[in-house]
Amino acid sequence: MFHPTSAIDWDRVVDLELLRHLSAVARRRGLTLGWLDAAGASSLPHANQGEAETCPFGGNCEARVLSSLHDPGEWQVIEVHPAMRELVAPVRVGGAVMGALLAGAFAADDTSDLPTLGEGEIAILGDLLALAAREVASHVRTTTPTVIAPAERQGYDAIIGRSPPMQALYATLDRVARSEATVLIQGENGTGKELVARAIHNGSDRGARAFVVTNCSAFNDNLLDSELFGHKRGAFTGAVADKPGLFEIADRGTFFLDEIGDMSPTLQVKVLRVLQEGTFTRVGDTETRKVDVRIIAATNRDLRAMVAQGTYREDLYYRIHVINLVLPPLRERSSDVPVLVEHFLERQRRGAPRARELSPTCIARLTSYPWPGNVRELENEIERLVVLSGDEGEIGDELLSPRIRQLSSGVIVPQPAADDRSLPAALQSLERRMIVEALRRHQGNKTRASADLKVSRRNLIRLVQKYGLDDARS
Ligand SMILES: Nc1ncnc2c1ncn2[C@@H]1O[C@H](COP(=O)(O)OP(=O)(O)OP(=O)(O)O)[C@@H](O)[C@H]1O
Ligand SMILES: [Mg+2]
Repeated sequence: MFHPTSAIDWDRVVDLELLRHLSAVARRRGLTLGWLDAAGASSLPHANQGEAETCPFGGNCEARVLSSLHDPGEWQVIEVHPAMRELVAPVRVGGAVMGALLAGAFAADDTSDLPTLGEGEIAILGDLLALAAREVASHVRTTTPTVIAPAERQGYDAIIGRSPPMQALYATLDRVARSEATVLIQGENGTGKELVARAIHNGSDRGARAFVVTNCSAFNDNLLDSELFGHKRGAFTGAVADKPGLFEIADRGTFFLDEIGDMSPTLQVKVLRVLQEGTFTRVGDTETRKVDVRIIAATNRDLRAMVAQGTYREDLYYRIHVINLVLPPLRERSSDVPVLVEHFLERQRRGAPRARELSPTCIARLTSYPWPGNVRELENEIERLVVLSGDEGEIGDELLSPRIRQLSSGVIVPQPAADDRSLPAALQSLERRMIVEALRRHQGNKTRASADLKVSRRNLIRLVQKYGLDDARS
């Protein structure tokens, strides 16, 4: 029936020129213009000297009007009450009936009823009402905000990537940044954990304050203790002066605890206390200090498994696991490789402003390589390429690191053109791509690739020839 979330804004609709005109026409015939939608029924204010009246026929009458609205006609006369008939024109938006315009003698000072009008008069009024209903519908269409899919984002803060997993990450970051919650970021090496932590800080209310980073695996236990919490002079050999810890420096800002899986059980207790109470003591001190710090933690270890093995405190795990972001590895978003390549090339160009491009084959190889080291490995590779290529304008794939040449394919996989909607072409393109990928997975071994693809070896050889993939590996 009616679309409950899209009631018509009648207060604005009444200002439509046509409705004003129609009101006047109706008034001259002793009738009132009204409306009906999911919210109920009422007469239009200007139809009755600016005073909005609630339609006198409630309950059943309304239901009768409502049920008539789905008849196909543009307008009709319906009997809402034995003593009352009225003209009804449905407001249809995109196939759904959203309401109706009514004309009838339902206001207190109306003098006539439809039956007193001749058939010709009723038809004229009916056509006008239908015209007005279409106008209302078009008004609704242009003013009702429709839910628009959020635009694809190229990146977020310093994070680059357009792939669907990254779009999902950005949407989460929007919400996470605004909250004060502790965040645990997980992901393989080089997936951008620190970049994401910074993006959260920058987007938060703490963005103008300190963002303090420490790598928990870079220190031994005692040093990390003093690094995090500070120490009192004389607390240990070499503690020649009082020193504040990083928790104090991060006060009112964000503290990024990297490699949090590498922290000793003793320190886990101290960090837990800061998380729970915001308090700590410097090494060798008795004074309890209080800080207001948001913690973002990161690790590439499986903390849950460590909890199960008893090497990580369960209470701390749950404290930092309030929001858990798992960053996708680059091989699961290989469509981002070209934009990342361009981003890193651009950075290189700034240092040495010679226009450099990678050859299409080179980009194809970088895109198909499985990137165990993720974005950091890609970044290093681009830097290496630029150095090795010297003054060459276009950088060819022969300069790529041997491991990348070995585990990638230089075949440029044609993407189906945007306007190519033919199913056979799309299927061929998919078939070709799957073969390229299977050959790459099995280093060109056709027996294993064909088993993987569940086709006979002979069939695979035929397809490899058909698509000219004989050198897919080289
Ligand atoms: N999505 C991305 N866009 C642009 N640069 C990125 C992206 N992800 C990572 N990088 C770059 O890759 C490098 C590694 O990123 P980062 O240090 O944030 O990763 P990490 O997950 O913390 O790695 P590790 O586990 O080794 O500590 C950095 O130079 C960073 O700028
Ligand atoms: Mg890191």
